[in-house]
Amino acid sequence: MCGIVAYIGHRNAKPILMEGLKRLEYRGYDSAGMAILEGTTGRLRTDRAVGRVAMLEEKLEGRQEFEGTLGVAHTRWATHGGVTEANAHPHRDDRHGLVLIHNGIIENYAALKTYLQEKGHRFTSETDTEVLAMLISELYEGDLESAVQGALREVTGAYAIAVICEKEPDTLVVARKGSPLMVGIGQGEYVVASDASAIVAHTTQAFALDDYNVVKLTRSSLSTSDIHNTPVTPKVTQLEIDLQEIELGGYTHFMLKEIFEQPKALRACVSGRLDIREGRVVLGGLAAYAKELTKTRRIVLTAQGTALHAAMIGRYMIEDLAKVPAQTEYASEFRYRNPVIEEGTVVIAVSQSGETADTLAALHEARERGALALGVINVVGSTIARDTDAGVYLRVGPEIGVASTKAFTGQVTALSMITLFLARKRLMSADQCADLMRELDQVPDKIQRILDQAQRIARITERYIERENWLFLGRGYNYPTALEGALKLKEISYIHAEGMPAAEMKHGPIALINEGMPAVFIANRGRQYDKVMSNIQEVRSRGGHVIAVATEGDEQIARLAQDVIYVPDVAEPISPLLTVVPLQLMAYYAAVARGHDVDKPRNLAKSVTVE
Ligand code: G6P
Repeated sequence: MCGIVAYIGHRNAKPILMEGLKRLEYRGYDSAGMAILEGTTGRLRTDRAVGRVAMLEEKLEGRQEFEGTLGVAHTRWATHGGVTEANAHPHRDDRHGLVLIHNGIIENYAALKTYLQEKGHRFTSETDTEVLAMLISELYEGDLESAVQGALREVTGAYAIAVICEKEPDTLVVARKGSPLMVGIGQGEYVVASDASAIVAHTTQAFALDDYNVVKLTRSSLSTSDIHNTPVTPKVTQLEIDLQEIELGGYTHFMLKEIFEQPKALRACVSGRLDIREGRVVLGGLAAYAKELTKTRRIVLTAQGTALHAAMIGRYMIEDLAKVPAQTEYASEFRYRNPVIEEGTVVIAVSQSGETADTLAALHEARERGALALGVINVVGSTIARDTDAGVYLRVGPEIGVASTKAFTGQVTALSMITLFLARKRLMSADQCADLMRELDQVPDKIQRILDQAQRIARITERYIERENWLFLGRGYNYPTALEGALKLKEISYIHAEGMPAAEMKHGPIALINEGMPAVFIANRGRQYDKVMSNIQEVRSRGGHVIAVATEGDEQIARLAQDVIYVPDVAEPISPLLTVVPLQLMAYYAAVARGHDVDKPRNLAKSVTVE
């Protein structure tokens, strides 16, 4: 959802900004742009390109005027205004030689634009961002920081911005509300970016801005205030990301790397948290709320996209094993629906990035109504993580591929630990708990056995890639897995796919089945195995091609399905951790075979920080 990076220091800014843009490209890739204060002339040089960061890089190749030690750069995911060069950032003002980059949405831009037009400003784009650049310009009286503060007092909406001005060649002003922004502190230099991935190569000392923080950076100083100019003391921390974690490391795509990283990621997720001997889960983040959680009357899990599918599995587990009524809901619906939150309600926000605008707003709504707010989040220190009462981090490492994979299995793992934490306190015996923990502990090795079949899964997938409509069917715990399998295929291979409970097929979608239509069944051994077998027969008798994900040793299914992908046996509640892996691989290989850019699927952004 737009990536921003800015630099002030003593080194040439262009390569630092370009490298930063490449790291942040997963956040948006409709267009990119850069502005540098040219060292020799003191003039601001700006250029932009529609398309990927590589297009901008090509355009700036060898351009001497882009040599300078102060600059800003942006990679865009379009919201207001089409994907054109005129709408790409940075945006310039028309009076003082200032430029601005922005991630977020200025909601009252229309009224501000009319006001600014009356003041004589001439606009060249359709964006809300240009309005903010002009507003700062309108208020500028020789002090960039104060003009930015003044402008931000007038706007509503979300922003992470960086602003520079020809008249103040030793100043970079950045600010945030709603959209993430971090300041990396180096030796006589600062790198500011939407996330740590663009900072960590330069410094590991950094702080995240809080809402309404405005930071003024010069080559030798840093000062933080709020939009009313009240001083603020930032909390500087040590970044814990390892550069290797954000490199491809020999893989062709981040998505493939992240699928293959799952055994290691899930080992990290459970590490130190499963006390099998004592039959209890150790979740430090929840310890302080253990009493409240035990008395919980209802749990609401809210999320978007893949995280919602993980939440749905969490809901099944919580009701089944901990016997607490639970529900899931799209955060975007929950927040506007006037939901009933009774006493004793716990809301769990599930999010990889911890920045999804709808999930954040749903969480605020629930807290406002008195719910205890928990987070199941991957990005440490992200906005949702900071706004919850407590939570469990996934610890699966940075996820860069836009299609979420290891975060999904991390979320399901974290939710299963939360379930056991609750269940053990309410009704589950130590032995039962230990049995499930043992199963959870073995999941990484079992996933590895599925990954070892990747080439075979690729060959199966390639047989069907010409088909434009697919079905994904599962029941019980694997109904959400079916939804996730369909979402993965849609996201990166642009094949139309529908996921649904296998039994629902008869109530309409069965009309779609024609000769050769691929239907992926999650048909592992479990309570509803026989029912799934009947559903498979229904598809076969109408000409559909069945690809079954089944439990190792199941020979019966090989007689029914055209293709079978076997996964190791595992306790049913956590079976989605295994059954989803072949679906992730199928989506990946389908996208590659169809020639798509797997890590940057069209129209998508990894983290959606606008409504
Ligand atoms: C976007 C991404 C999805 C992701 C969803 C929720 O739509 O493209 O992959 O599942 O946001 O993101 P979150 O960071 O909250 O898990």
